[in-house]
Amino acid sequence: MQIRTAVIPAAGLGTRFLPATKAVPKELLPIIDVPALQLIIDEAVGAGIDHIVIVNSRSKPSIEAYFAESPEVIAKLEQSGRTDIADRMRAIGRDVRISFAYQDEPLGLGHAVGCAREVVGDQPFAVLLPDELMGSSELLAAMCAVCVSSGGSVVGLKQVPHDDVSAYGVIAPAGAIDADGVVGVLDLVEKPAVADAPSDLIVIGRYVLTPDIFDAIADLLPGAGGELQLTDALRVQARRGPFHGVLRDVRRFDTGNPVGWLGAVVELALDHPQYGAPFRADLRRILRDE
Ligand code: UTP
Repeated sequence: MQIRTAVIPAAGLGTRFLPATKAVPKELLPIIDVPALQLIIDEAVGAGIDHIVIVNSRSKPSIEAYFAESPEVIAKLEQSGRTDIADRMRAIGRDVRISFAYQDEPLGLGHAVGCAREVVGDQPFAVLLPDELMGSSELLAAMCAVCVSSGGSVVGLKQVPHDDVSAYGVIAPAGAIDADGVVGVLDLVEKPAVADAPSDLIVIGRYVLTPDIFDAIADLLPGAGGELQLTDALRVQARRGPFHGVLRDVRRFDTGNPVGWLGAVVELALDHPQYGAPFRADLRRILRDE
């Protein structure tokens, strides 16, 4: 068995990025010259996913527009000899099937994932939050392998300084992390006080879930902030087990707020094969002039 389907919830309001997100969805904000959403899809494809389900809101039609074919633009690019960019345009959505599900109201992340139930069907699937970028597909690929071998859901983990845990969802581990970065999870605690935190391992925006999560989501009652929280449905699965977390040393960027997005763009631009060198020179000059 292989995990083939990934859900990308993209129906939120993006309030931390207003007014930019008034007209441009957060998921389409550029990371250098591609929308963040494209990098998320590339990560999923790199982990073996071939079907992406985007949970969208009817008020964000530009997300669908990104996947529409654009033969006139491509023809113009080819006529003017710009075949590189024409090829990149043609490649959008080519290696993967893209489906849409709709969330009519942003009732929370748990509810958004639940909106994908019919399209996903009765199989394990990945969930990628589009405002967290990973430097590679390695974490997701490892999580998929653990889901297949254990038969239970898996969450992505990151270790943070113990004093920082109260801003996050934290796991209660069943024991020590093994040599592959895998640990059993007994429970999850949302934003614990530092003194009560069961570990310094926080849940990040990557999940591989068995389909019984949909029943747990259907039973959800409003939780923190009045929203239907995915964490509450995960707790039901964790208590039942098997349920694991995977820790990997991958780069991770939180692009859902202006400072995190700026950091991601700068760091990735410095590594860029085409723009890296000129951008580094510009940045040096700006910092010198400060
Ligand atoms: P966030 O809470 O980070 O996104 O949810 P948001 O609500 O859009 O942003 P802020 O906090 O107001 O700035 C993580 C992901 O889950 C999606 C969001 O689109 C985002 O990509 N989401 C969240 C939904 O699809 N539906 C929801 O009801 C909530």
